[in-house]
Amino acid sequence: MTKAIAIVTGAAGDIGRAIAARLAVDHDVILMVDIDVAAGEKAARALGPAERFVAQSCDVTNEASVGEMAKRAATLGLVRTLVNNAGAARAVSLHDTTAEIWRMDNALNLEAAFLCFRAVEDQLKASKGSVINIASVNGMNVFGHPAYSAAKAGLLHLTKLIAVEYGKFGIRSNAVAPGTVRTQAWEARAAANPNVFEEARRWYPLQRVVDPADVANAVSFLAGSQAAAITGVCLPVDCGLTAGQAELARTFSQSEHY
Ligand SMILES: NC(=O)c1ccc[n+]([C@@H]2O[C@H](COP(=O)([O-])OP(=O)(O)OC[C@H]3O[C@@H](n4cnc5c(N)ncnc54)[C@H](O)[C@@H]3O)[C@@H](O)[C@H]2O)c1
Repeated sequence: MTKAIAIVTGAAGDIGRAIAARLAVDHDVILMVDIDVAAGEKAARALGPAERFVAQSCDVTNEASVGEMAKRAATLGLVRTLVNNAGAARAVSLHDTTAEIWRMDNALNLEAAFLCFRAVEDQLKASKGSVINIASVNGMNVFGHPAYSAAKAGLLHLTKLIAVEYGKFGIRSNAVAPGTVRTQAWEARAAANPNVFEEARRWYPLQRVVDPADVANAVSFLAGSQAAAITGVCLPVDCGLTAGQAELARTFSQSEHY
């Protein structure tokens, strides 16, 4: 039997590790792709044996490196799921955004997903597999980090482009848009303001931020057979942030029920 492979990019990060662990329930091998070789290896060993959790060094913004990663995947089995999870934000405002930052954020948060998809599209055709792009609420509304946000908005469109053009091959393409997730990506902000999660919490209808496992559960659902008729959508995993803000509803309606 050919082994079912799930590729998770940025797999050494907190969300990537949670996704890798969750997808291991119904995939034989998880290819844990990261530019940080040592962190990728450490994350893979923490999750399980080397034949199930395979660390792969790869810069997802580099076409040759992505090509090597796709070749490695083909030696392990057949790719059924590609999770484009690697991502990061640099400048916080447009005023602080240089042309170089704009290009780097677009390369990592948008172009890399295109490169990874094209590199494994034949394997996905053969498996009638699916792509899950980890976008962000920043791709839907303005919450700062402009170049990252514009790239994530583009990633939502790429999700639809793949769904429409590749649907005839049985390939599905969906996105997950997390709100604030407690991860190492927040370390610097949490160090500068230890109350950052407490302050963020009040804008979330569920009055909490997101855990990496919440994102992983949504990815697992979209990758699985329960989502067989779902393609081209964005599933926010945002504790209600993009639904609205209770504080603003209270101001507008002057109702204490919010
Ligand atoms: N943390 C949040 O609040 C939050 C919210 C919404 C969306 N997201 C998205 O979730 C995804 C994961 O975020 P996270 O918080 O776990 O981040 P993280 O910083 O913890 O992990 C990101 C991982 O990507 C790797 N990476 C960076 N550049 C790479 C490259 N060129 N090639 C391969 N790997 C590379 C890093 O080494 C790191 O291990 C990102 O796409 C991010 O935009 C995060």
